[in-house]
Formats: sequence, structure tokens, C-alpha cells
Amino acid sequence: MTQATRTRNHIRSQQLFERAQQRLVEGVNSPSRGAAVYSPGPIYLERGRGSQVWDADGNEYIDFMMSFGALIHGHAHPRLVEVVSEGMAAGSHFAAATSAEIEAAERFCKMVPTAEAVRFCNTGSEAAMLALRLARAHTGRNKFLKFEGHYHGWYDAYLLNAHGHSPQRLGPRHDPARIPDSAGIPAKVFDDVVIAPWNDLESLEHILRRHGDDLAAIITEPIMANMGCILPREGYLQQVQKLAHRHGALFILDEVVTGFRYAPGGCQEYYRLQPDLSTFGKALGAGFPVGAVAGPRAILDRMRWDNDNGMVLHYGTFNGHRLTMKVVAANLDLLAAEGAYKRLHAIGDSAVSGLREIFRKCGVKALVQGFGPMFQIYFTERDYIFDYRDYCSYVNTARYSQFVHSVLDQGIYMTPSNGLHWIISTAHTEADIQKLLAAAEAACTELV
Ligand SMILES: Cc1ncc(COP(=O)(O)O)c(C=O)c1O
Repeated sequence: MTQATRTRNHIRSQQLFERAQQRLVEGVNSPSRGAAVYSPGPIYLERGRGSQVWDADGNEYIDFMMSFGALIHGHAHPRLVEVVSEGMAAGSHFAAATSAEIEAAERFCKMVPTAEAVRFCNTGSEAAMLALRLARAHTGRNKFLKFEGHYHGWYDAYLLNAHGHSPQRLGPRHDPARIPDSAGIPAKVFDDVVIAPWNDLESLEHILRRHGDDLAAIITEPIMANMGCILPREGYLQQVQKLAHRHGALFILDEVVTGFRYAPGGCQEYYRLQPDLSTFGKALGAGFPVGAVAGPRAILDRMRWDNDNGMVLHYGTFNGHRLTMKVVAANLDLLAAEGAYKRLHAIGDSAVSGLREIFRKCGVKALVQGFGPMFQIYFTERDYIFDYRDYCSYVNTARYSQFVHSVLDQGIYMTPSNGLHWIISTAHTEADIQKLLAAAEAACTELV
């Protein structure tokens, strides 16, 4: 990892980090926030408003991480603050039926093209777990196919080939090596997981000839968002959908990152897909913890108590949390307003083209991949990063970490992890992008 020299004062953050390590593992609650990523340790954020955040030492930043994409309207949006204050004053949650969940569900189903019905849970991981259980119940099959480098949360069965690994370990494209990402998962859990490289129809067809008819589902992110930002090749997702159906498997679209980000109906609207099930999280809650599974009644009704084919159990004390549902409804109203997506795309495209120009001008070999509200920078000699194998083989993640630590020091907040991506919210302005570009240009002088 890069050892960055910070010119800003981070004394209070350092003190907090020392204290945090007494009681929290690595001082954090998720390894992506700690010293595994930030050097020499995390910057403690204390306050946010619009596109800005302030750390414990009073340093100001423009936030381009936006809670890994959860903060679609930036920090402390006045309408959401109002909804939360009013909602809290009337009682946060009852674990009982409320009108708030109806309001959220009605708006959700209006925006998401394939949502005849929706079930709310609390995180993207839970949504992905539930989608798989539904697919297994619906098809009567156990196996499922996931792609290399796709992350669907921390549920046991999904934690294969979801982190960056050394290219020597990946195995052949037609029969990828199976690399668990966590200890503590019984090996037999992975017997039901089939792995394929993404963006490669030829390999997928080959693998499906062997396993296709045993699959309950093929699950994919529409845009690979956990190895940076990797777009699908033209027509690729439509073909994956077709192949899944040819083999009697469900097509699950994991829209936890892309949902409510690229278009009101997420990537299924953007790429004109008809997933059998889709999963949501992050931007749906505008900063509140929520997940959702959407699809046709024929599949979601498997969760009914009176389902004669065997009920799919899904409990949760906090499902449909009243305060969260109020936020979801207000968030979706803001997103449905005229111009919200046009603005997200325009500001994001301005950042992408501006960064490309800065790298070109500075003579730094870097790819800026993605468009509109989400993109990533790869320091690589390649002209495009198409999949996990490219990412593991050709991307200089240490150089990226150095770059991000440099812009952090200039008031641009971002995670130094290359596997994530830059996020544009409705709170970002062209002035924020100009600050980003100035910081990127200064960072380039340190790189070359
Ligand atoms: C595509 C995708 N699916 C699922 C998840 C899991 O969501 P959560 O972190 O809310 O559990 C993530 C998290 O980053 C994700 O990127």
C-alpha cells in the first residue's frame, strides 16, 4: 500500500483510530473502511451536507464515494431530514404493517419495470440471499452460476472469486479456479456454485453445456461495480438472459449498485432487460439501510404462507422499517422529479471527460471507464478493462491508491480501493467537478 504524506492535519482522526482499535476489530466495522485501504489509517468523517463532508479535524472535502453509492442525493438533503424528523417523532418502527411501506412499494413498482411486487429487507446482501432462495424454490434446483469478480454481498454461497486475486490463480476461462474469499465457509457450500468469466459469451456457453440444466439461476451485476466500473459488451446481457431461460434458469439482475442510479428503473430500464428477479439496496435508501427484491407475482408469491408449492421463508424484525420506508418514498419522489437523471448523467459525463483530458494532458497512462453517475480510473497500459481477469492482471492498484491519497489531501474524498468507483449524486455541481479536476491534475505531477 502507498504511504502517503498528508499535509492536512489529522491528529484527531489518529487519536480516534487508536481508541477505536481498543474495542473494534481493526478499529472499524467493515474492512473497506480501515487501514487495509486508508494509509496510515481512516479519516474520521463527522458531518456532511450536500456534496461536502468534514472530518474530525475540521478538514473539508467534496465526497465522491457517497457511502458507496447509497447517498444518491448527497448528505442531509433537506427533504429527507424533514421526513426523518417527522417520522421519528411519530415512532421509528413498529414491526407491524404500516402505510409507509405501501407508499414506498407503490412508488418502487411504478419506477422498476419488472416489479409487479417488491419485498423489502435491510441490505443488498439480504436481498441477494432472498433472490437465490426464491430462485431455488421456484425451479426446484440448487446450483446457480455467478461470474468472476461479481460481488453480491457477504452471504456464504456468493463469496467465491469476488475479490481481486493474483492472475496465476485464476485457472482456464472454460473452467475457472474456484477461489473462496473468506475462511469459515464449508467447502460443500461451493459445490452448488458454478463460476464463469464475465463479458465472454463463448466461455459461458461452454460452461452452460455442462451445468446449464442444473441451474436455478444465473446472477449478474449489469455493470461490474466491484472491480471498478466495467460495462457489458454490446448485447451481452441480453444474451445472458436468453441463455439462462434456454436452460430453465432464472435471470437475476443484481441492481444493488445500479438501481435508481442510471435511470429511474435502473439498468433493466437502461439496457432493456427483463430479469426474473432483481435486487436493490444502496441508492434506494438514500443513506438508510434497505434492500429489496422485485419481480413477478408468480415468483414473489412463493413467500405467501398459503403457497401450496412450499412457502419461502423470509422474516426480519426490521423489514419495511417505518422510518426507512418514509425515506424510500421521499427519495423516489425526488428521483422521479423532472431532470434528476439528466443532471446525474451530465455532471458525471463532465467528470469523465474532464479526467480523461487531464490524464492526456499530463501524459499519465490511465483509463477512465464508465459514464454518467458512476465511473472508475484504472492505471493500466490497456485500452479497456473487460473483466475480472483484466482487472487482476493489468491494473496498477497501488498507483491508484497513491493517486487517491493525493487527491484526499487536496479535499477530494474517495476510497483508495480500486475495486470501488466514483459516485455522482444529485448534490454534485459543476464547481465540484472543477475542484476534482484541479486535484487530479496536481496528483498527476506526483505520479510522473
Ligand atoms: C452488486 C452488489 N450486490 C450486493 C451488495 C451487498 O450490499 P450490502 O453491502 O448492502 O449488503 C453489494 C455491496 O457493495 C454490491 O455491490
